[in-house]
Amino acid sequence: METKKINKMRTLTEPYKIKVVEPLRVTTEEYRIKAMEDAGYNPFLLKAEDVFIDLLTDSGTGSMSDRQWSGIMMGDESYAGARSWLKLEKVVKELSGMPYVLPTHQGRAAERILYSLIGGKGKVFISNTHFDTTRANIEFTGSTAIDIVCTEGQDNNSNYPFKGDIDIKKLEELIAHYGKEAIAAVIMTVTNNSSGGQPVSMQNIKAVRKICNDHHIMMVIDGCRVAENSYFIHLREKGYENKTYKEIAQETLSIADAFVMSAKKDGMVNMGGLLTVKDEALSVKCKNMLIMSEGFTTYGGLSGRDMEALAIGLEEVFDADYLHHRINSTGYLGEKLKSKGIPVIWPIGGHAVYIDAKELYKNIPVHEYPGQALVCDLYIKGGIRTVEVGSVMFGKYDEKGNLIPAAKELVRLAIPRRVYTQSHMDYILDIFDDIIEMKNRNRGYKITYEPQFLRHFTAHFKPL
Ligand code: F0G
Repeated sequence: METKKINKMRTLTEPYKIKVVEPLRVTTEEYRIKAMEDAGYNPFLLKAEDVFIDLLTDSGTGSMSDRQWSGIMMGDESYAGARSWLKLEKVVKELSGMPYVLPTHQGRAAERILYSLIGGKGKVFISNTHFDTTRANIEFTGSTAIDIVCTEGQDNNSNYPFKGDIDIKKLEELIAHYGKEAIAAVIMTVTNNSSGGQPVSMQNIKAVRKICNDHHIMMVIDGCRVAENSYFIHLREKGYENKTYKEIAQETLSIADAFVMSAKKDGMVNMGGLLTVKDEALSVKCKNMLIMSEGFTTYGGLSGRDMEALAIGLEEVFDADYLHHRINSTGYLGEKLKSKGIPVIWPIGGHAVYIDAKELYKNIPVHEYPGQALVCDLYIKGGIRTVEVGSVMFGKYDEKGNLIPAAKELVRLAIPRRVYTQSHMDYILDIFDDIIEMKNRNRGYKITYEPQFLRHFTAHFKPL
């Protein structure tokens, strides 16, 4: 692998320079208190221009390179057989090793197409952890989605290097319980977003493949962060030290029967998705669905320029200097937060830092949403936008209307790709000094309005 090319280059020195700038608006705390109140204390309802550092998601929020922007000008907007499509198809075939490639407008479109075809009433999907839209698309077909991340992955402080792994024993038990015919697919999410952005080992991926082979079960890889996962395999798994990140990603994807990707992550674009499959008959069915809802098979929901930028992004993401900086910059933020005494999910994952808000704001009861309190405090103190991943997002009510809380009260700080500099990371760390001063606060928030589904996007709150 690449060694230091410039002696004094540090891990955290950005391996790119800034050619276009987008000014950030610097606001006062008074302004932000009012903005938060106007947004019903829900950061999803803030105006983006009122946000200083936006860590809501790493999805579609990255910066494209000059090569990608020049590719945009070269986009071929032909309805069928566009040059940009042929370029994208070639790159994706080479990466995935799969013969059938379908473009989609984003990840969940690929999920809907595949899971509506292989799912249905009585079917069961098993995953390390289904992402929300994955679960929603599966449950919508009448199927059941079961998460079985390994035990180490459920422990916030375990040092296990691959906390995204699937629990192999549980997988075998579930297959025995439901019967192999009922299992529609096993989905490996790499890295495992909903469980801290933790990586999955090649050994685990291979072990799942073997079980799937033994029982003739389909295996899918949700690989929207496959490059980041490859970085961790290279770093932590024996036998992969001398392989390139791209070779590791190719090996990962070659193991599956299908690959779904939200290209808004490691595709390094603002919009796009992919579905690839090995089986011809399945590809024909997928293509029919694609034409019905997304567009012709050579553009899906994308314009030629989007496909051009994606073809380039899928190569750039494997640049060793880029990936090294990316993972280490996220790690820097997480490690420094930990050393300040902020309870973070450990070790730090690839695309985000997750904070245990229940542990941080020990005196705020769960039914007053400690995660929402932290999200609001981070915005008011520093203009930093984050997302609650706790009882606001996943809480339910019993018959009496009492909250059934989520398993954890987390807050996610997702880092967009190639957007913020090291000094922005230091700014975020400084804001946490103000948060630490407030850690004994004992009142949180109450919900004043909520829709029936997916309430975290539009609910309104009031401070107590
Ligand atoms: N799978 C995973 C693992 C994801 O993280 C996401 C999106 C999707 C599928 C769906 O892709 O948004 O392109 O339709 N995750 C974003 C996030 C939204 O903030 O984590 P999409």
